[in-house]
Amino acid sequence: MGVSRRESFSPLDFISHSVAQTQRIGARLAELALPGDLFLLEGELGAGKTCLAQGIGRGLGYNVPVRSPTFTLINEYRHGRLPLYHVDLYRLEAPVAEILALGIEDYLNSDGLCLVEWADRARGVYPPDHLRIVLSPISETKRRVILEACGERYCDLLQTFRHQAFGIQ
Ligand SMILES: Nc1ncnc2c1ncn2[C@@H]1O[C@H](COP(=O)(O)OP(=O)(O)OP(=O)(O)O)[C@@H](O)[C@H]1O
Ligand SMILES: [Mg+2]
Repeated sequence: MGVSRRESFSPLDFISHSVAQTQRIGARLAELALPGDLFLLEGELGAGKTCLAQGIGRGLGYNVPVRSPTFTLINEYRHGRLPLYHVDLYRLEAPVAEILALGIEDYLNSDGLCLVEWADRARGVYPPDHLRIVLSPISETKRRVILEACGERYCDLLQTFRHQAFGIQ
């Protein structure tokens, strides 16, 4: 009898107790990333999205600190294990039109990992398969982290992450 593959998976919901821990979570996720992956980050100002993105940069082998793009919407990092396309939609005013103009589709069909901060500013433009990461402040040093897999690829990723991070099958 064949084993049916998982298309859905309950979100992982846990607490990060420090900046370093949030960065480690990012680094672990980055180690599991494959070309063409899409990670969508949500959370209010100061929730820790860029902090997690820095861990992702580190996990892909970038020595330079990942910073949110300031004058552009996308920063590209190359020569790591995978290219990293770091998008920050905070300043986006006309979400859908602008993001389409940006050609985000090209990034999503690329050879790298596409990471979008403030992803919820442009709903409806992403492929259905992605990893959703929601961060929310609990206290000065604690952040709630929700990792939600949408689609089979990200269920696999999350299952591996869960196994490695928590030792749960
Ligand atoms: N457990 C934690 N994880 C992540 N950041 C934390 C944590 N505890 C405290 N912080 C602090 O929260 C802030 C997170 O800032 P960061 O720039 O990562 O947020 P952001 O979600 O990207 O915000 P913005 O939308 O303004 O870009 C930093 O000042 C960091 O030191
Ligand atoms: Mg940020």
